[in-house]
Amino acid sequence: MDDQSAIPHGDPFLLFEVWFGEAKASEPNDPNAMALATATPEGRPSVRMVLLKEHGREIGEHGGFIFYTNGESRKGSEIHANMHAALLFHWKSLRRQVRIEGPLREVSEARADAYFHSRPLVSQIGSAASDQSRPLPDRRIYLDRVAALEARYEGKDTIPRPPHWTGFMLEPRRIEFWLDRPNRLHDRREFVRTEDGGWDNVLLYP
Ligand SMILES: Cc1cc2nc3c(=O)[nH]c(=O)nc-3n(C[C@H](O)[C@H](O)[C@H](O)COP(=O)(O)O)c2cc1C
Repeated sequence: MDDQSAIPHGDPFLLFEVWFGEAKASEPNDPNAMALATATPEGRPSVRMVLLKEHGREIGEHGGFIFYTNGESRKGSEIHANMHAALLFHWKSLRRQVRIEGPLREVSEARADAYFHSRPLVSQIGSAASDQSRPLPDRRIYLDRVAALEARYEGKDTIPRPPHWTGFMLEPRRIEFWLDRPNRLHDRREFVRTEDGGWDNVLLYP
């Protein structure tokens, strides 16, 4: 297929891997940072950054992108009420964008435990002490909670994962790659998953 695009039309997971690898080599920090858009069941959207922690074709039934968070946060409440989301990567150093959309599934307890316990103790404590997204009358309250957990788990490598701290896997139905081209004649290729688990793709006007 010669459609004059510089974006290959093969497997989108493979293409993501190539672009992500290039982003890791060129971004000054957090190449795995992505905007996560969720919405209420009434369709009111909200968006924030999270970190991509695992991804690939071999995750779940059809491949997935996993992030971790507090399931009782604002995003957590929206996700539990409406299990669909969109992800956005913008790698400024490469002038590239990737958009990913699809349903979400909560990861298994074993997977959430494994990731939670892979983090440094201070990160485990920081997230366990945080009632993420709820009002904090005084920052000291949070710091006191952190200090109390530090004292309780001194000398340990891990603390119990709070049950509401969890991960979600987005199973992509649509992945779009956007590439900056000269004279703003940009290049876009969109992959849409087919019923049989394969991918159709089409170029989009920029
Ligand atoms: C670069 C970056 C990465 C972040 N990664 C995460 C993350 O992986 N998980 C998370 O819960 N919050 C992460 N945050 C904080 C979120 O953006 C957000 O403030 C928090 O999750 C609360 O969002 P909510 O109130 O919409 O639930 C990150 C923020 C930035 C700027």
